[in-house]
Amino acid sequence: TDASISERVEDLISRMTIEEKIGQMTQLNITMINSTGVQKDVDIVEEKARDFLLNHHVGSFLNGEAVPGKTWYDYSMKLQRIAVEETRLGIPIIYGIDHIHGATYLAGSTVFPQAINLGATFNDEHSRQTGRITVIESADLGHHWNFAPVLDLGRNPLWPRLYETFGESPYVAARHGVAYTEGLQDVPEAEPYVVASTGKHFLGYGDPKSGWDRTPVDLSMQTIYEFHAPAFQASFDAGMKTIMVNSGEINGVPVHGSKVILTDLLRNYMNFEGVVVTDWNDIGKMVDYHYTARDYKEATLQSVLAGIDMSMTPLSLAFNEALIELVAEGSITEERIDESVRRILKLKFELGLFENPYPRNDRFNRIGAKEHRAKALQAAEESIVLLKNDDNVLPLSKSVKILVVGPSANSKRNLAGGWTLAWQGGKEEQYPKEMLTISSALKQRYGKKNVSMLSGTFDEKTYRDAVSKVDVVVAAIGEEPYTEFVGNITSLELPSDQKELIRSLSAFNKPVVGVFVGGRPRIVADVIDDMDAYLFAGLPGFEGAQAIANVLSGDANPSGKLPISYPKYNGHFVPHNHKPSDVYYFNPEEANDIQQGQKSVWQWEFGTGLSYTTFEYSNLSLADTVLSEADYLKAEVTVTNTGNRKGMESVIWYTQDEVGTISRPVKEVKFFEKIELNPGESKTVSFTIFPEKHLSFPSHDGELLLEQGYFNVKVGGMEKRFYLQKNSLAESK
Ligand code: BGC
Repeated sequence: TDASISERVEDLISRMTIEEKIGQMTQLNITMINSTGVQKDVDIVEEKARDFLLNHHVGSFLNGEAVPGKTWYDYSMKLQRIAVEETRLGIPIIYGIDHIHGATYLAGSTVFPQAINLGATFNDEHSRQTGRITVIESADLGHHWNFAPVLDLGRNPLWPRLYETFGESPYVAARHGVAYTEGLQDVPEAEPYVVASTGKHFLGYGDPKSGWDRTPVDLSMQTIYEFHAPAFQASFDAGMKTIMVNSGEINGVPVHGSKVILTDLLRNYMNFEGVVVTDWNDIGKMVDYHYTARDYKEATLQSVLAGIDMSMTPLSLAFNEALIELVAEGSITEERIDESVRRILKLKFELGLFENPYPRNDRFNRIGAKEHRAKALQAAEESIVLLKNDDNVLPLSKSVKILVVGPSANSKRNLAGGWTLAWQGGKEEQYPKEMLTISSALKQRYGKKNVSMLSGTFDEKTYRDAVSKVDVVVAAIGEEPYTEFVGNITSLELPSDQKELIRSLSAFNKPVVGVFVGGRPRIVADVIDDMDAYLFAGLPGFEGAQAIANVLSGDANPSGKLPISYPKYNGHFVPHNHKPSDVYYFNPEEANDIQQGQKSVWQWEFGTGLSYTTFEYSNLSLADTVLSEADYLKAEVTVTNTGNRKGMESVIWYTQDEVGTISRPVKEVKFFEKIELNPGESKTVSFTIFPEKHLSFPSHDGELLLEQGYFNVKVGGMEKRFYLQKNSLAESK
């Protein structure tokens, strides 16, 4: 134990058989070792576990569902005991789990908003706390390896995994990815345990052509370098220990078999030294989904040569067996196996698994602790985006009578979405008793007799009567939970029955407040005029209903901003950082209207979010009008709270490169900062522009290009132009 990690790794490797090494590269699902073969049963049949551990040397397991801490503890203890005490070398197993937004596979835990909401806070402290509290609540239970954060970009709003992303901006994803990773991997309160984070799904997964999950992506390397790599790179630089591979194909090659992505890009260009795990049965999918390998053995060969370290096989020993054969026949060298085993063992040592292999059961009181839930509530409040508030219908006054309707009026599961309690979300009765729904939260705030609720199919007379008795209607619309391809849809329009509901409610002549609960922005262009106010609440988690009630009542002043572009049309989606020619109008009047900001291709632009107070931006200044390559330039702006309530404002800075040899985005986020201002208070905020960091972009080969010329810096609807001067004129464009 006194030797260095690398010495200990080498010592072990020198004593391992090839079967033991390959076992370390294998990850099996819980259903292979539990009593029923059903995911929710976190129990262990020791004979089954013993067979995999002793005879096949399996080094990792994954998965489960939300069960109490004690159940996890017993399960992990039994499993790890066999690995440590009964296997020849006593190498502990590493357990992987999808605690996606809080310890979501643990009963009674704190459940934070999903990543799309964290993105909307424009406050990366909330991602840091999500990571930190996940670990405090679950590291004791033998959960060593968390399969989060998702660093894919949400650039196609149809994609059912949009809600797992921090939105469409590479910079926003990078800031939150770094904060989450640091929050998760460095938690003094979790000592003696350390948990590894997983950047997934490497890479380009979030931009499928069809909008369906795990469907092909065509991306140039330049687009990969510029848009899809930065959030991963920033997280690697922050110490991220593992990544999981994109299940789809890029440019015709499944990423699991792509040496270009998994070795040339990941290892050689991005210098990632951690562990690469496959996604679920993705070696198998090369045979019967992508049809790029004739059989499992060929797929295994392709994938190991491409660069994977561990296979989430996860329901058979096919990987294990294929790899043993491939090494025996000389298609894969033992040196190649050693490379992966070295990384896996290093990870196990770094996490302290050899010193502290076992779970502990003396800190269950930290699960769902009050102070943790307070953090989740704060994150949820800051994540709610107010998009429309005609005649200041919100906040609702103290004495108001409310009718709550719609599919999410009285639902707990809808508020937390997929990956919560179970893969597709739990059953309604599994959610905590004390968890509020939108209607129960409003009842708590406004009194039972002042809040009524109607759910189920619309019926003209019942609804008309109910509306006549109240002052305002809250329509809780949106989506039910879904995860991965189960959430594929063919139209982004808000479902027609919900549109009908909104239209009918509006005809009753009482203000209608739409509260959207769901994982992606469903199109509301047809019915937005029928709503007086509209909130995008996304998936705010277990404290979400309280957060929504706090925002509706004004106990919390909304401060969320859209981390995505809210689409207006079903047939046209573009992100804020699109290329100039993406939004080109043939008709000069239309082009002019777009340019003047009179017309938009979005329902609401990226970064939109109202408050109950108003903020005014003034005095945008630049220290100079020329920036030379080796220098930096400070931009400053004054933000004033011109309303009469205290409020928070995320100041989002963008840059625009006017002309580029590779077409430049019309604008792109380069910095954000959230500030709080009292009524009448002003603050000066600044953004320092460093040429290479903020103004360069990658070439087709990934080299950074810095091109002389005019740039604009934009903030709060203002902009200033400056000139970037290269040192040598010969290099100028
Ligand atoms: C998902 C991953 C997840 C894994 C393990 C896959 O289907 O794509 O995000 O971590 O399952 O549950």
